[in-house]
Amino acid sequence: METKHIYCPNPYILAEIMPFGNVYPCSCGWIKNYSFGNIFEQSYEEIWNGEKAKTFRQKLFDNDFALCPGCQNLEILQETEESEAKLISQPPERILLGLDEFCDVKCIFCRPEDYKINPNLIPKDKEDKLLDILSPWLINAKYVKTNAVGEVFASKISRNLIKNIADKFPNIKFEIITNGIQSTKENLENLNLVNRISMITVSLHACNERTYNKIVKGGNFNKVIENLYYLSELKKSGRIDRFELHFTVTLINYKEMPDMINFARKIGANIRFLGLDCSRELEQLYKKLNIQDPNHPDYNKLVKVVHSKTFMEANDVVIQGWEYFTGLKPVPIIKRIKNLFSR
Ligand SMILES: C[S@@+](CC[C@H](N)C(=O)[O-])C[C@H]1O[C@@H](n2cnc3c(N)ncnc32)[C@H](O)[C@@H]1O
Ligand code: SF4
Ligand code: SF4
Repeated sequence: METKHIYCPNPYILAEIMPFGNVYPCSCGWIKNYSFGNIFEQSYEEIWNGEKAKTFRQKLFDNDFALCPGCQNLEILQETEESEAKLISQPPERILLGLDEFCDVKCIFCRPEDYKINPNLIPKDKEDKLLDILSPWLINAKYVKTNAVGEVFASKISRNLIKNIADKFPNIKFEIITNGIQSTKENLENLNLVNRISMITVSLHACNERTYNKIVKGGNFNKVIENLYYLSELKKSGRIDRFELHFTVTLINYKEMPDMINFARKIGANIRFLGLDCSRELEQLYKKLNIQDPNHPDYNKLVKVVHSKTFMEANDVVIQGWEYFTGLKPVPIIKRIKNLFSR
């Protein structure tokens, strides 16, 4: 029988440029930090079409998922009729930028009290050269998503970079992920972003100020709500293609999930509930907050909330990174791929 080969588009179309300048072809967690190279040390061609990139593309083609042990995106995989792997690629269409960790608040699960921003993520002598360094990566890009690791509107570096990219590459559209505190009309206009946003995601982990303040230290709930209504108008008038709310579920806020579904509908946004990522070294804190863990003392209360009428009748809700709760016990990737292609 002829061996079937697999084509995954990501190592050809997606570049995630993350802290310290490392480039990944997909979500770092899924590919266990397999980097193609570093934008501060190597040229675009050395990275995107270098040996590490070729190895990655070849392995996927050979149905070898050793470099993708945590893949959660099997739906994008296709079978290909090609007999040889395509090892060289055009510049990527989608760029995810997460170079700068600076933020205006401290969310308890992201920045615990003693968290120190790493000042070395971007070498000092490269700060003014970011646009030049990134330009070869951007020439084919349709979408730039930012900032995955900090707060885009609070960071001078991120703001300058967005403005420079928006001015130099008029065809690029932006996917913005923000805590919403500074996503004001004024900021969007100053950064040349109005009419350039394909998607905006606002992280809002509570429906009321009291709960919000327990999670987002130094935030401003009322300002976020005000800005959400402004974004809602942009969405309604067709100036934003997609509008999402992200809600990270913890012991503190799980009871507000049904209200959040209703609020999202009211402002015309989609809602995505995120499981708590506990991979960082904050064991005690995460243990207490991590209500999605079946061993958590309040786990059954979460189950009840998620089986409430609002939830059960909702077909516009996404739950991400929450395999245990949804009953999908993690199955080894090879088995899942075999299942996928034997359908
Ligand atoms: C790191 S933030 C960066 C973008 C922006 N500052 C924001 O808050 O949306 C991106 C997303 O990661 C989520 N996040 C941060 N730490 C997390 C954790 N430990 N578990 C799950 N989600 C987390 C945030 O809630 C947010 O939705
Ligand atoms: S196989 Fe999965 S983890 Fe690997 S690049 Fe494709 S989508 Fe990402
Ligand atoms: S706003 Fe975003 S980057 Fe800032 S602490 Fe919260 S989750 Fe982290």
